[in-house]
Amino acid sequence: MKYLVTGGAGFIGSALVRGLLNEGAGRVTVVDNLLTGHESNLDEVKAGVDFRRVDVRDYADVLSAMQGHDVVFHEAAIPSVPRSIDDPIPSHEVNINGTFNELRAAKQAGVRRVIYAASSSAYGDTEVLPKVESMQTNPRSPYAAQKLMGEYYMSVWASCFGVETISLRYFNVFGPRQDPTSAYSGVLSLFMKAILEQKAPTIFGDGEQSRDFTFVEDVVALNLKAARAPASASGRTYNAGNGGRITLNEAWALLQKITGVTLEAKYGPPRAGDVRDSQADTKDATEVLGHAPQYTFEQGMRVTFDWYRNSLRR
Ligand code: UD1
Repeated sequence: MKYLVTGGAGFIGSALVRGLLNEGAGRVTVVDNLLTGHESNLDEVKAGVDFRRVDVRDYADVLSAMQGHDVVFHEAAIPSVPRSIDDPIPSHEVNINGTFNELRAAKQAGVRRVIYAASSSAYGDTEVLPKVESMQTNPRSPYAAQKLMGEYYMSVWASCFGVETISLRYFNVFGPRQDPTSAYSGVLSLFMKAILEQKAPTIFGDGEQSRDFTFVEDVVALNLKAARAPASASGRTYNAGNGGRITLNEAWALLQKITGVTLEAKYGPPRAGDVRDSQADTKDATEVLGHAPQYTFEQGMRVTFDWYRNSLRR
């Protein structure tokens, strides 16, 4: 099997590359334009990586990188709900046009399967929790709409063009290497940085919004299972969540407990495009793909904090 990971120098993509190599993949091709990814994320596995500095907006480059591969993990994206509201054009071009390019090239290059990083944001606010794949989607931001469009393209490429596709709706993935340096960074990475710098974080709204924070290694394991799943799993979307739910206030309190640091958070106005509550129903992913998260939220937070403590203080 020859594997290619787009966005492979990013937080989730690089974890996936390490997961593939640990599983005995031999070599893995990485496609990344280093806009938000860092080659240093791949330092420890450099010897097993064929790195291609390619932007998914460039069809010819994407096609050339894709030749000779069996399975593609499409992680390349411009993430962040607020970023897509502040600056919608680049995220549209990467998240929709880039995904289209990936699929077109996959067909042309004879790739057997594409596994896609979809987003739980597609659900928007639902009346019922947990969120099940059969629910009506209701994107509340350009980012959510773009990621949902990618899912539609995935399923159409399976039905019209014979490329096997599986979409995994990620639920707020966190873990080592999530970049905490931008205002658009994931909230837990910002919380970790705040603790290490002893600066109060800002919580948008009342902090009672909740998320199904999912540890990156559990998402990697699910991707590896999706690569091995039978062809009957193709053309569909699965929740890639932990199945739990925790408020931001609870997450901040837990981090203070874990680290022994006490800091009062600041509160700001609610963020535009924000979803109130998020929690995955994991039944389909469990039954069809064999999803089996191994990390409780607290375990994931401890591993993640250890990583930030060691790497940010270097
Ligand atoms: C959304 C998706 C997630 C996707 C991510 C990609 C949902 C439910 N989740 O995450 O699946 O992977 O986009 O970017 O739509 N916050 C603060 N202070 C901060 C930063 C954030 O309070 O400094 C709050 C936000 O207002 C939000 C929560 O923390 O309520 C989580 O925000 P963030 O980490 O940016 O992720 P989502 O937008 O939830």
